[in-house]
Amino acid sequence: MCGIVSAIARHNIVPVLIEGLRRLEYRGYDSCGIAVLTDGAPRRVRSIARVEDLAAQVEKAGFASGIGLAHTRWATHGAPVPDNAHPIFSRETIALAHNGIIENHEALRKALSAQGYTFVSQTDSEVIAHLIHSLLPASSLEHFSARLLLARARRQYGDRCGRSRSASLRDGGDPAAIPNTRNDDVTQCKPLKNALADAVRAAVQQLRGAYAIAVFHSAEPHCIVGARRGSPLVVGIGEEAHFLASDAIALAGETERFIFLEDGDVVELTADTVNITDSNGARAERELRVLTSLHQIGALGPYQHFMQKEIFEQPRALAESIAQRDTFLPSCFGERARAVFERIDRALILACGSSYYAGLTAKYWLESIAALPTQVEIASEYRYRSPVPHPDTLVVAISQSGETADTLAALKYAHALGQAQSLAICNVATSAMVRQTALSFLTRAGAEIGVASTKAFTAQLAALFILTVTLGKVRARVAPSAEDAYRQQLRHLPVALNRVLALEPHLIAWAETFAGKENALFLGRGMHYPIALEGALKLKEISYIHAEAYPAGELKHGPLALVTDAMPVVAIAPNDALLEKLKSNLHEVRARGGQLYALAEPETRIDSDIGLRAIRMPEHEGPLSPLLHAVALQLLAYHTARARGTDIDKPRNLAKSVTVE
Ligand code: F6R
Repeated sequence: MCGIVSAIARHNIVPVLIEGLRRLEYRGYDSCGIAVLTDGAPRRVRSIARVEDLAAQVEKAGFASGIGLAHTRWATHGAPVPDNAHPIFSRETIALAHNGIIENHEALRKALSAQGYTFVSQTDSEVIAHLIHSLLPASSLEHFSARLLLARARRQYGDRCGRSRSASLRDGGDPAAIPNTRNDDVTQCKPLKNALADAVRAAVQQLRGAYAIAVFHSAEPHCIVGARRGSPLVVGIGEEAHFLASDAIALAGETERFIFLEDGDVVELTADTVNITDSNGARAERELRVLTSLHQIGALGPYQHFMQKEIFEQPRALAESIAQRDTFLPSCFGERARAVFERIDRALILACGSSYYAGLTAKYWLESIAALPTQVEIASEYRYRSPVPHPDTLVVAISQSGETADTLAALKYAHALGQAQSLAICNVATSAMVRQTALSFLTRAGAEIGVASTKAFTAQLAALFILTVTLGKVRARVAPSAEDAYRQQLRHLPVALNRVLALEPHLIAWAETFAGKENALFLGRGMHYPIALEGALKLKEISYIHAEAYPAGELKHGPLALVTDAMPVVAIAPNDALLEKLKSNLHEVRARGGQLYALAEPETRIDSDIGLRAIRMPEHEGPLSPLLHAVALQLLAYHTARARGTDIDKPRNLAKSVTVE
């Protein structure tokens, strides 16, 4: 999704902006751009290719400045064409980068057009730039016009006016012939302090929707202003430098000190100062956080892709996520958790994509182990439904990023319906979701760079299993002997996952066949049905093969019509109570010539045969078996995509953190 990096310093910040964009590439984007302030006016380059192309253009243009902003755009309003790429300008004086969606952009566009503003893009973001401009005091704009004329003259007349006096002198120019225009310009045009921040504060009052913005104005060359509501924005504290970014990862290598802005905050940065005001315009203090391991993010090590690296990190990610939490104590979820867990009598899980499938798997656990009635909802649907709320519901929001707009909105809606007991299961401690729930459980998967969720998904499953057993204990449904067995199964997970990873050569062999297909079916039953859904999602998003998943018993109610010898059918075949039922479903496929690929556990007596290729999975892990099958399907999707040569870590049209509706 869109990314912002902005910086102000006493030195040239252009390399920081470019490096920041590179670090944000994993989030997904379809255009990018950078704007700097030089000689009193903003200059920009934009590209609908990759950040590397932008970097080449920047080098060619010779950009160097102590103030600038850069952006990767994931198109929502308007196609990915250069005119829609950020930074967006207003009247050649304001440069702005925006993440999020402005819902009332049409009304604002109309009002600003009536004031004489010309729109050159189809973006909703352009209204913010013009709105801020329209709210600047007239004195600031007049004051600025001399500067703008001068900058234009410099561009028009080349070296004598277009470069600083010192640069021209360095290049051997005649001192008498080179006017000291730069100094004259600066002394004549003292910046109007705070006018930009005031205009931003006034502008955001008129915006409906979600935004994180970074903006500068030519009349205030020593200041950048940021603001956020609904989309994340973080301030980085450097040496004689300050930064703004939509994700702290963008600033890895520049600083370890961050301030995470809150909804409604406006921040004003100079090279030496940080001033934050809250949504009421009052001066605000925000906690300074030190993040020391950011620089490790981004190293591929021996792997070809981040997705592959993250698949292989799962034994560690799971071990860390489980450590000290397999006591199944409510306190693992927050101080107030025991009181909440004792009160609630049902669960409502809200999530999107893979996180939703983690929630669907948990429904099987919560109902069978903790006897807790559980409803699982796709967040983008729930937020617009009229559900029947119940005050004794535990609302569980699941999200890797903690910034997914639909899940945040669904959570807010659940709260507004009087369901106040909420828990976030999230991989990012500083995310909006964690701040908006009374209870939280942080998975320790580490930063996930590949767009397709892998280690974050299995870490969510581990968290949900810990939640299940904890609730089961509180509700007197889990006896001490069962608790011990669950603890042993959890502790064994990293070893079992390593055994699945050792099956990689077999999954590569399957992938060679899958790479030539255009469709695939995934079947599962019970708690493995959501894993079939996840396997199909993984395959389609990174290999672009159309894949569907069904509970195996549903096959004969329609999808069986699709089965021919050209259709690979993946069956998750654990050694559980539904095995014999599943085997009957598999016979239905084989009888129609379907090509079966079974992930079979020992003792299932499912062996390779004509029309059937079986991989022997490690020993059945009881209720945790879904995690093992999920990892096998991740490897299948990864190697199929690799064989097809797709952009695995940045699949087309997709973004890592979906911060728009
Ligand atoms: C699929 C995938 C997405 C995310 C979904 C929710 O591989 O990664 O489906 O699971 O966009 O994202 P989070 O978990 O950040 O809320």
